[in-house]
Amino acid sequence: MRLGIALEEGLEISGPVLVRHPSLDTDLSALTNFDVETPDYRVAQRYPEQPEREYEATLIIAPRAKDLLRDLIATAPTRRIIVDGQKTDGIDSLWRTCRKMAEVHGSVTKAHGRLFWMDAEEGAFDDWHYEPPDLHGFVLAPGVFSADGIDPGSYALAEVLPAKIDGHVIDLGAGWGYLSAVAEARGATDIDMVETNAMALACAAANTQHARGHWSDATNWKSDKKADHVLMNPPFHEGRKGTPELGIAFIANAARNLAPRGTLWMVANRHLPYEETLLKKFAQVTELEGPPGTQSFKLFQATRPKR
Ligand SMILES: C[S@@+](CC[C@H](N)C(=O)[O-])C[C@H]1O[C@@H](n2cnc3c(N)ncnc32)[C@H](O)[C@@H]1O
Repeated sequence: MRLGIALEEGLEISGPVLVRHPSLDTDLSALTNFDVETPDYRVAQRYPEQPEREYEATLIIAPRAKDLLRDLIATAPTRRIIVDGQKTDGIDSLWRTCRKMAEVHGSVTKAHGRLFWMDAEEGAFDDWHYEPPDLHGFVLAPGVFSADGIDPGSYALAEVLPAKIDGHVIDLGAGWGYLSAVAEARGATDIDMVETNAMALACAAANTQHARGHWSDATNWKSDKKADHVLMNPPFHEGRKGTPELGIAFIANAARNLAPRGTLWMVANRHLPYEETLLKKFAQVTELEGPPGTQSFKLFQATRPKR
């Protein structure tokens, strides 16, 4: 909507536009000639893959993660950069900062957000390239889940996993691969990691030795062979939207992919309503006690999947 107004109010674009990181509900109907660059598997299914070409402008749909947004601006392949974001994610302060670093030509505010466009000299945003934190040698990328350290919920789950993990393991929503790395450290050699975010999955591949990565949707991904263990810390929001139904779909798919004697190991924030689905999909569900200081999470071991 803001883009349509900007195009009527002075934003001129005649050549192809590279759209970086749109979400599932980004409206791109105001554009006719564009390609999409996205790490998200589900978004990528919407847009046919395009060969790389010269772009006239880059439109960045601002993600909530500031370091990712800055990196997307610093690495934009064009001089003309358009940024569209929500006020609650800090777009106004970004706009003020950009006015000091580049030539901002126009801006549209509407529907709790702002879109602005600017021309940047080469290297103007060089300081905004992402610098990964030093985290025990783990490879991380900006904007991936828990990019600044091990998630406390996943840590709690790792603490209750068996000391020795045998057989086939599936890590649903693998993120940067922490749980798979833990499984490998406990002896697992046959691991499938399923993740929708290609940047996270690339990290997960780098953070494990032999685990196989699948850029796919964990709510319907189907393994060739049934698993002995499914590990997961399912997502409970997309952007700012709470989505317990995503976690529910993860549980159902874990049950489908497990062998009859397989086990689901799952962590969730204590307030999330997963018990009912777990009891519907598994004959036996046990809540496990986590390590001290992790009471805000629930840890589940579920066995005997029902189909
Ligand atoms: C709470 S994080 C947990 C990440 C990782 N397992 C960990 O413990 O650090 C959930 C992960 O699920 C991914 N995700 C969200 N929806 C997904 C989907 N439909 N299919 C696959 N992965 C998804 C997110 O990108 C995120 O990396």
